[in-house]
Amino acid sequence: MKKIQIAVDGPASSGKSTVAKIIAQDLGLIYLDTGAMYRAATAVALRNNLKVAADIIEEIKANPISFKNTSHGQMVFLGEEDVTKLIRTNEVTNNVSWVSAIPEIRTFLVAEQQRISDEGGIIMDGRDIGTVVLPDAELKIFLVASVDERAERRYKENQAKGIPCDLDVLKSEIAERDRKDSSRAVSPLKQAEDAVLLDSTGMSIKDVVEFIERRAKELM
Ligand code: CDP
Ligand code: CDP
Repeated sequence: MKKIQIAVDGPASSGKSTVAKIIAQDLGLIYLDTGAMYRAATAVALRNNLKVAADIIEEIKANPISFKNTSHGQMVFLGEEDVTKLIRTNEVTNNVSWVSAIPEIRTFLVAEQQRISDEGGIIMDGRDIGTVVLPDAELKIFLVASVDERAERRYKENQAKGIPCDLDVLKSEIAERDRKDSSRAVSPLKQAEDAVLLDSTGMSIKDVVEFIERRAKELM
């Protein structure tokens, strides 16, 4: 089978990482969660109280971001340190938009993402994969769902993990992150011209996976 590149972009909690992980396994592709890289950069900035791009980048170079696949899912590291949980905290989530809007941080992480994509067939999820990171990807999906449904998905996920949360707060946080990600000057969240729009409101994870895999298999 031909090793293809698949770009999955879309707003927060539209299901990108969930479906991308399954598709990677089914089709034998590398999976890269670019959001986790921006989250890791945010954790670096917050805990070292860094605001200047060069300082954040220097710190990441000293302790590079890496991923490890385990039976419990994908783990994220900064140097030797496991930051898998840290990067999902509210503090990181609520600060990731300003860190990911810094042009130098994007240039640095995009170069890293493109280097990883040279290793073989890949499915990458994020906001600018189809427009900036993998402009020549064979398949580009722009995955959306209503704000209400995305907040409800996150709510259920948090409940299952025992994380207390409020549905209305989740809705406003998601809407606010959509606004920031779509309106920033550099690489805003935007559907690539050649991307397939998939509105997953009311669709199960299985339905979304099947839709994307059907198209991918036609290209492999
Ligand atoms: O999983 P969730 O939708 O909460 O977000 P994520 O994919 O983990 O991404 C976290 C944040 O990183 C997004 O809100 C964007 O601000 C930023 N991001 C980005 O700017 N470009 C990407 N390719 C991926 C994420
Ligand atoms: O990566 P992104 O932020 O786009 O979303 P996610 O973390 O993959 O998915 C958010 C939540 O929605 C997860 O709990 C999924 O199990 C759930 N979900 C989904 O991803 N897709 C559906 N069609 C239905 C639910």
